[in-house]
Amino acid sequence: MMDRRDFLKKSATGVSAVAVAGLVGLPAMAAATRRMTHNKSDMKKIMIIDGGPRRNMNTAGMLRAFAEGAESAGKEVEVKTVRLYELDYKGCMSCMACKIKGRASNICRFRDALKPVLEEIAQADGLVLGSPIYFGDVTGQMRTFLERLAFPWLSYNDYSLTAPKQMPVVLVETMNGTPERNNSKGYGSMEHCLTVALGTPERIIAYNTYQVKNYDRFELASFSEEAKRKWRDEHWAEDLQKAFDAGKKMAERILG
Ligand SMILES: Cc1cc2nc3c(=O)[nH]c(=O)nc-3n(C[C@H](O)[C@H](O)[C@H](O)COP(=O)(O)O)c2cc1C
Repeated sequence: MMDRRDFLKKSATGVSAVAVAGLVGLPAMAAATRRMTHNKSDMKKIMIIDGGPRRNMNTAGMLRAFAEGAESAGKEVEVKTVRLYELDYKGCMSCMACKIKGRASNICRFRDALKPVLEEIAQADGLVLGSPIYFGDVTGQMRTFLERLAFPWLSYNDYSLTAPKQMPVVLVETMNGTPERNNSKGYGSMEHCLTVALGTPERIIAYNTYQVKNYDRFELASFSEEAKRKWRDEHWAEDLQKAFDAGKKMAERILG
């Protein structure tokens, strides 16, 4: 399904290029080495922000597939995943440091564990946000992160929204709801900010996810384990493939 094997094959081709260069002389080898190490300036970076608490369940799975897709496009793409639940940070503190006259900044200045992440996003070439849906919205952690990302973009002089740099954006949601029956407002009002400041995002949704590994163990009478399993068997591989394809597409787009 996912052409991970193609990715490995490509890496192997890179190694044999150097071996061949050894036979044809040093200038060719230097060229091959340059191709393999890649100038830092040739590298493109995709930042994946995981706003879910579970390391190995649905949201993380979708984001991993996205990363694999992006990496399959070539070694010039670096993919970095940040797990928000592992960082100690706050939402917008309303310190207004980003709006000081003559020193306005469209990157948050508040110093905590999120600051370097926001600085890295400002330099990135693509952005992916992933969250499970909690009570119809993204998780609190994701929302809190988005306040810090977007408030510095907002000008109170003219209500414009300006990010340091435009870039392709993908929004991933996973939820219990189905396409016909769901309560998700997704990224809500923040989607507007992302659209204006970065560009129209692509949305990828995994519906009717398998919420626990063993439905017998919990009070979950509203769900039929059998129906959940059937849905998972019919859709999960396809959902992962969609994430993988979106990753590959984003990487190819930013590589030009
Ligand atoms: C606190 C909480 C609230 C939830 N609220 C909703 C909801 O409003 N709508 C929905 O479709 N699913 C809801 N779910 C289900 C999760 O969105 C779904 O299982 C998701 O795929 C979990 O992602 P994860 O496996 O990455 O943790 C909720 C789950 C939790 C734990």
